[in-house]
Amino acid sequence: MGSLPIQQPAGMNRMRTVYDLPGLRESIGAWRREGRSIAFVPTMGNLHGGHLSLLDRARQIADRTVVSIFVNPIQFGLGEDYARYPSTLKEDSRLLSGRGLDLLFAPDLAQLYPGGVDTDTRVTVPDLSSILCGKFRPGHFSGVATVVTKLLINAQPDVVLFGEKDYQQYLVIRRLVADLCIPVEVIAMPIVREPDGLAMSSRNAYLSAAERQRAPMIYQALQNAADRLRHGERDYASIERAGVAALEKTGFRPEYFSVRRSEDLGEPRPADTKLSILTAAWLGVARLIDNVKVYLDPLPKG
Ligand code: PAJ
Repeated sequence: MGSLPIQQPAGMNRMRTVYDLPGLRESIGAWRREGRSIAFVPTMGNLHGGHLSLLDRARQIADRTVVSIFVNPIQFGLGEDYARYPSTLKEDSRLLSGRGLDLLFAPDLAQLYPGGVDTDTRVTVPDLSSILCGKFRPGHFSGVATVVTKLLINAQPDVVLFGEKDYQQYLVIRRLVADLCIPVEVIAMPIVREPDGLAMSSRNAYLSAAERQRAPMIYQALQNAADRLRHGERDYASIERAGVAALEKTGFRPEYFSVRRSEDLGEPRPADTKLSILTAAWLGVARLIDNVKVYLDPLPKG
């Protein structure tokens, strides 16, 4: 009798984990030489259904999938939650392996910031980075743009996927990829929500039980605003004030609640039909963000 072949546990593939840039380039380079297409999902770990939806889509559209897990210090402001951002690499790794990921890239700080985090070399996307979340988190989008550029230069994927949960971030990346002529397709994926409507987020873990119960109001307020737009209202300021008031009444401390053009987050004009309503609000120590799209019928001509 010959020896039995070693069996992989059901649902497990042979995910590889690399911790440095040469390892990342080597694995991806080998696939490239075989003619495989590559999809990439950058994350900060502590994975949930939102992240996994990106991986599932990545697996549908490319031969090989890569996920990075790296909590990027330079996108956190002073006093923000960098130090306590949940790190769950072991669980994340198990989840990803069971979900069919091919390559996990989990670098440490020195890999991505060889010159230290105070280096002045930054990628900045102007305009888009200074409004909405950018206004309340100065430097945040430059931190995101810088780390995503480093990751794209080294992974050189065909496709990179982002969630619409961070809609402004997606637009910043889309713009940087276009402006820097990076040959990658940027794909946006819909927001994955809990059954009660709260958008999945690693930061939901900061909510107390009582706050968690009230948290879906952020989605409710956005939907109410969307309904007003769908019913033909165009007094954006009044819609925004009602959103802020609803959130405050539920105990949130809103930073902004804003109706914008989906395309570029500019102030909407009457003929615009693709609108997004975006909000950021604190509930206790958790800063939650969410948004909804509203696509309206074009105005009748004449
Ligand atoms: P992170 O917050 O871990 O999110 C990684 C990706 O998952 C982002 O594209 C985000 O939009 C997406 N995502 C998060 N929650 C989601 C949800 N409920 N539904 C759908 N997609 C969701 O975003 C970052 O990390 C970082 O800024 C990063 C891009 C990795 C750069 O450091």
